[in-house]
Parts: sequence; C-alpha cells; structure tokens
Amino acid sequence: MLSEVLLVSAPGKVILHGEHAVVHGKVALAVALNLRTFLRLQPHSSGKVDLSLPNIGIKRSWDVARLQLLDTSFLAPEALSPTCVCLFACETEQGDVTAPTPEQVEKLKEVAGLPDDCAVTKRLAVLTFLYLYLSIFRKQRWTKEDLELINKWAFQGERVIHGNPSGVDNAVSTWGGALRYQQGKIASLKRPPALQILLTNTRVPRSTKALVAGVRNRLLKFPEIVAPLLTSIDAISLECERVLGEMGEAPALEQYHVLEELIDMNQHHLNALGVGHASLDQLCQVTRAHGLHSKLTGAGGGGCGITLLKPGLEQPEVEATKQALTSCGFDCWETSVGAPGVSVHSATSLESRVRQALDGL
Ligand code: PMV
Repeated sequence: MLSEVLLVSAPGKVILHGEHAVVHGKVALAVALNLRTFLRLQPHSSGKVDLSLPNIGIKRSWDVARLQLLDTSFLAPEALSPTCVCLFACETEQGDVTAPTPEQVEKLKEVAGLPDDCAVTKRLAVLTFLYLYLSIFRKQRWTKEDLELINKWAFQGERVIHGNPSGVDNAVSTWGGALRYQQGKIASLKRPPALQILLTNTRVPRSTKALVAGVRNRLLKFPEIVAPLLTSIDAISLECERVLGEMGEAPALEQYHVLEELIDMNQHHLNALGVGHASLDQLCQVTRAHGLHSKLTGAGGGGCGITLLKPGLEQPEVEATKQALTSCGFDCWETSVGAPGVSVHSATSLESRVRQALDGL
C-alpha cells in the first residue's frame, strides 16, 4: 500500500512524421514535449477510489467494495484483498500485461456509472483509468524493466481508447526524447536538435479510431494509389531522421528549410489519405502567412498541428503567429521537443516549486 503522496509525470508528444503510415508498418518519428501531465496519487482509508481530472472536468468516486465485485477473472488476485484498499489495487507479475477484452470494457462501462450524455473523451478517460487501476501495481523506483512494463500498460490503455494503436504514442511518452518507431522496434535518435515548435489544438474533436479505419478503407479501395503514399511518408520520416542526425548543436538554416519542405509534403499526403480538416488547412494558411510551415500531428480530422519555429525568428513574430492562431479559436503553446519520459517526482520538491511559482505571481 502507498504510504505517502506520489507525484509522477509524463510528457505530451507529437509525431513529427509517419502518423497513419506507422499503423501499416512504416516508420514514425515521434518526440516528447516539454509540456507534461502530472498525476498525484494519495492514499486514504475511506474505502473509495477518487478520480479527479480537472482539465477535462472529471470528478468521480467509486466504492472499492463495488469494484471488488467485478468478475475475478478481470482482476489479479491481490486486487480482492482488503489490504489493498488504496489507490493502486493490485500487483501483477512483471510482464503480465493483458489486453482489454470487449467484455471487460462493457463491464467497466457499467461500473463507471457515467451519464448517457457524457462526452466520448471523458468516457474513454474514465474507462482507461478504471482498466489500468484494476490491473496495475505501483513501484517507486523505475528500472528499464519497469519502464518496459509501464510502456506495455500504457499501450493497453491506448487500446481502450482506439482499438488498434501502433504503439508509438505510449513509447515516446514512456521513454521521452526523440524516437524512431517501426512495428514495435524503438530507436532513440542520437543528440537530436532542440527544435522549438508551436503546438496548436484546433479544438475540433475527432475519433482516432474512425480516422485510422478510414485510412485502412481507402488503402483497400485504392491500393495502387494509397500504398505509394504510405511509402512516400515512410521516406519522409527517414529523410527527416537523417537531417535531424546531421543538425547537431549548430544547425544551419538550410537544414530547417529541408525540414519545412518535408512538413509541407507530408501534410499534402495526409490530406490525400483523407485525414485533413478545414481547421487544419486554416492552421497551415495562418502560419504560412507568417512564413512558417505546419502539418497535422496524430490522427488528424481536427485535433492538433505542429509548426516549426526557425532559429533567428524574433519573439514578437512568434507572438503575432500565436495571436493569429488564438483568434481562430485555437489553443496554442510554444514548446520544445525532446523532453524526458515518464518520471517520478518527490512530492515535497514539486509542491515547493508550485508554491514558489504561486508566490511569484
Ligand atoms: O491522435 P493521436 O495522438 O492518438 O495519434 C494517432 C497516431 C496514429 O498513427 C494515427 C495512430 C497510431 O496508433 O499510431
């Protein structure tokens, strides 16, 4: 049982190149962002599990006793022990990572007790939490094996959310840095440049599952047309990897221009795959008017886009671009790539940092 408050964090990520193609066995390049999600775990003895996700407006509570009534095949045996009435309920053997079955997901929907009109993103977040809560045991010191286990569980969480993920998202948030990912094989890019980017959320909701299925259908319908697009995206990822590898600590502007060309070509390919959206076109046009190049990142169909910031760009110009994007109703963050992966923080040091930040306001 947890004896103290535990704070952990994991980085957000973007896919530089290779989204969708990676589902079909091609290469993806993904980077961790210096924008992190924090999770605070606090034990208590109320016999309840409380979940609070303030960013998406979720506050739920479940009786541990009720969760224990779930079919025992769903849970590791330790989860049924009353001694495990804490935020993490059960211990599984290292590597004993199980995929969520449709029956389990149905049961979780019953237990979650969410209202019928609950937004899909909120529903999926709660189901993923419950699935992982009922399946995982916490350890504080993370070895390589622990990280591999975290990565495997995060992958199962992704499966709750969109069925058939490639595995690139959970890998980059676990390991951090910049990764080349292909069919489960991960290689870290050596000394990638600390690219500055804008991450823009168009706030247009989309279903990754539906978009991935759409690309698959287009591939089946027009194999001669779509397969070469995927091969070309693969080549873009490899070329991007090569250029990033050559950039080193003092990248030349010419290398940034190559990255921009790759961004433009990939954005057109993704449109041809059917995962574009008017909001993403708008994002590209707005940033183009400021001399910057953008592409969608992730599933597309709305969602997020990235914009490469070149060295030497004056801060007022960056601010003007952010302002123009915000005026379109988008959310925009300036950040850098290559952040550390999932990390455990000492609660006291983090809380004192938060207090310092608040004092400074
Ligand atoms: O939209 P996101 O951040 O979930 O990224 C999806 C990336 C895809 O390549 C479209 C799917 C996948 O599982 O790799």
